[in-house]
Amino acid sequence: MQGRGSLRLGVNIDHVATVRNARGAVWPDPLRAAILAETAGADGITAHLREDRRHIRDSDMEALRAGIGIPLNFESAATEEMAAIVLRLKPHAVCLVPERREERTTEGGLDVAGDEARLTSYIAPLRNAGCRVSMFIGHDPRQIEASARIGAAVVELHTGHYSDLHAESRLDEAEAELSALRRGAALAASLGLEVHAGHGLTYENVAPVAAMPEVMELNIGHFLVGEAIFRGLGGAIEEMRRRMDAARGEA
Ligand code: PXP
Repeated sequence: MQGRGSLRLGVNIDHVATVRNARGAVWPDPLRAAILAETAGADGITAHLREDRRHIRDSDMEALRAGIGIPLNFESAATEEMAAIVLRLKPHAVCLVPERREERTTEGGLDVAGDEARLTSYIAPLRNAGCRVSMFIGHDPRQIEASARIGAAVVELHTGHYSDLHAESRLDEAEAELSALRRGAALAASLGLEVHAGHGLTYENVAPVAAMPEVMELNIGHFLVGEAIFRGLGGAIEEMRRRMDAARGEA
């Protein structure tokens, strides 16, 4: 993905589809949101096609693949059904995440170390199709090392726990979690992995993550779609970009 600063912003538009689906209507349209996000400074669009299709649908992925001018990051569980869709659409990137039906959002990282053989063969055809394969994992060194061994190009470090601690004002614990994320980012980069981060990021908590020099991309969704209610999607994204660039010393 080509960025405007050194840190790219991937905008996750899943929850535009959540609002649409709440009424069984055809709007708001995720593709329109993605095009607007691009204009506002997003470097890529992320969408998660869940097994239960609770927000993004197959037709949304097809429309995004055909309709946006910036890279599409296709988030999915590592299932055969999803591999077939990915191989047909050939998005720029695929981010593999754990998925449980009863969860509200992606709650933990992928257990790459515990599923190494299967994931190695799962990602091989995706890599051959030209997709950059990313593993959504915690900062556990075992998971980072396993991601490098299976041939992933990217790891996306899960910032959800840090975000929760920050929101609960448990600041010492949030700082400790940030330190672990920093160590994870440094380890991943030393193994040749590109480092991304995301989950639960907001205006209030984004700066220390954006400031990590190894982190090349942040993926942010729920907060931006919520903030769009107050300042419009374009304005919400512009403010996030401003804060990311400021944290990076590139304001
Ligand atoms: N990255 C990954 C891998 C995710 O699963 C999600 C949530 O769909 C995000 C980033 C974005 O998280 P949020 O919606 O909390 O910003």
